Amino acid sequence: MSSSLSLFVRCAVLAVVGLIMAPAVEAADRDKLLSEPGVYGTFAAFTLDEDWAKEDQATRIAHLTVLRGVVEQHREKIAIDLYLTRGLSDHADIMFRMHAVELRETQKFLLDLQSSLFGKHLKTAGIMHGLTKKANYVPGFPDQLKADLKTASESGPKPYAIVIPIRKSPDWWALDQDKRAAMMKEHTEATLPYIKTVKRKLYHSSGLDDLDFITYFETSKLEDFHSLILSLEKVKEFQYTRRFGHPTLIGTAMSLPDIMEALAQ
Ligand code: HEM
Repeated sequence: MSSSLSLFVRCAVLAVVGLIMAPAVEAADRDKLLSEPGVYGTFAAFTLDEDWAKEDQATRIAHLTVLRGVVEQHREKIAIDLYLTRGLSDHADIMFRMHAVELRETQKFLLDLQSSLFGKHLKTAGIMHGLTKKANYVPGFPDQLKADLKTASESGPKPYAIVIPIRKSPDWWALDQDKRAAMMKEHTEATLPYIKTVKRKLYHSSGLDDLDFITYFETSKLEDFHSLILSLEKVKEFQYTRRFGHPTLIGTAMSLPDIMEALAQ
């Protein structure tokens, strides 16, 4: 019974998302937005209100179709990634990661999302902004360490995404560049055993949010990620951390059709 229901939902969602295969607007240059400096990264986490569970399935599917429409409408300017945090996090049910050259494009998307039929069911759990920048310390690292940092990531899917906001102490920012660089070298050396299984991305948030950094990771091996954090907590640089997490968000990266299917159930 439940598998035939699931099949029905899958078919309904697939029928609804069929148009995604032939998008009306050209998608933003995702590779560029995800790799270049000077791009704004926003993480927006939401919970679904109590009324969502009370809606019948047809209404939920109709509302999720609206979500698809809003994402589709903005994909020309923004690279949008979705994560299911429901079941893994008590902070949120879904999370959006957006990359845009202009933060106001992300704002337009979030306003359209929140005022949509689907968005009426969303309660904001948290929104964080950061900016991608050229590496500050890596250019001064020894050649071997620079080469180690280029080690290719293990192939295969990395379904888990983890977001950890970080704030450092005023003492850190008061140190001169050489002292900070020496500690970041130590930080980087501690991460090398995990470089193949943990992918990372760094966003600078000072002035854009009550944070200094948003750190974002993808992995299929959560145990490695756990060991990585324990290793980093031992390096001197960690002593300058004033906020670590609060919240830590953990979810699974999903395509829009898969998110729609999960939320339609
Ligand atoms: C495979 C794992 C990791 C690698 C290879 C790595 C490597 C690096 C490198 C090379 C930098 C310096 C970037 C620059 O030159 O500006 C850096 C910065 C940073 N990393 Fe990591 N890291 C990893 C994991 C982590 C983890 C797990 C955290 C904490 C949750 C973290 C937090 C940070 C922060 C906050 C910065 C910015 C520090 C600053 O500019 O003051 N990193 N990381």
